[in-house]
Amino acid sequence: MVPVIEVEALTRSFGPIRAVDGVTFQVYEGEVFGLLGPNGAGKTTTVRLLNGVLKASGGRARVLGIDPAADGCALRRRTGVLTETPSLYERLTARENLLLFGALYGIPEADLPRRVDRMLEWFELAERAEDRVGNFSKGMKQRLALARALLHEPPLLFLDEPTAGLDPEAARQVTDLIRQLSHQEGRTVFLCTHNLPEAQHLCDRVAVMDRGRLLAIGTLEELSRSLWGGFQVEVDFLEPPAVPVADALRLLPDVTDVRSEPLRLTVRVTGEATIPAVVEALVRQGARILRVSPRQPSLEEIYFEIRKEAQP
Ligand SMILES: Nc1ncnc2c1ncn2[C@@H]1O[C@H](COP(=O)(O)OP(=O)(O)OP(=O)(O)O)[C@@H](O)[C@H]1O
Ligand SMILES: [Mg+2]
Repeated sequence: MVPVIEVEALTRSFGPIRAVDGVTFQVYEGEVFGLLGPNGAGKTTTVRLLNGVLKASGGRARVLGIDPAADGCALRRRTGVLTETPSLYERLTARENLLLFGALYGIPEADLPRRVDRMLEWFELAERAEDRVGNFSKGMKQRLALARALLHEPPLLFLDEPTAGLDPEAARQVTDLIRQLSHQEGRTVFLCTHNLPEAQHLCDRVAVMDRGRLLAIGTLEELSRSLWGGFQVEVDFLEPPAVPVADALRLLPDVTDVRSEPLRLTVRVTGEATIPAVVEALVRQGARILRVSPRQPSLEEIYFEIRKEAQP
């Protein structure tokens, strides 16, 4: 795995506020990396540090092999950035905006009109290409800002809440596009979002940040294992068991938790080797099992557990 972003003890203060407080992580080529956390956690500040828009107060960062603080201009030619509040030229048309930014990015003049057309088509803005951006809806502006971020075909994209304010269809288009960019085109995506189902759908790994600090980082499976140990299986019954079956399971070694519903047990075990003993104990008690399946906790459950454990 090739690291595209390497951050070590990165820190940025605004007066007494430590917006980013000694953060260390890596992002690998081709992955979708999600940065999650409540309002004011330091996500946007991190993105700004990684793009060289802000200077760090301490620590180190390398992005595509470049030190963002030293050479932000060179870096921004190779990254696409969608900021929280994209600034577009409201008095210019959609096409003029893209032509202008394309020229700033250094896209060759011969290529530019064709690329702009393609982006306008892709984001379904072709019909409105000659309209002033000031008259666009929020979602249309967001799509245009995304088009702008992708115009120079950067290998690394920073997307700060890319679907905020979009209608469900447009949000789906954007998430499909992000998947396509990463899975088919091998680009790396650094995503900040509050939308946990979206992050679960998109991200290969996530990090949870709060008050400038990283609370946890990893794949869903890694996070779930480190929070609860082992993994969960769900046992579904054909009919509710005639006797309470959960207590016998709690006595088994390596069973760490059992939750009981009429037609389902959720059992946490330390390893796969325990599952046959669980099934056996249930069958011995007369339970009629329909199905035994592994259960992966949702990112939402994981997120709230991480936040709960971090409470002072
Ligand atoms: N330019 C600035 N001047 C002063 N304080 C700032 C500045 N930028 C950010 N901060 C502070 O840094 C902290 C982190 O802000 P940041 O915007 O990075 O949070 P965030 O995780 O992106 O939040 P949100 O989910 O609301 O977008 C906040 O306390 C914020 O007030
Ligand atoms: Mg933010």
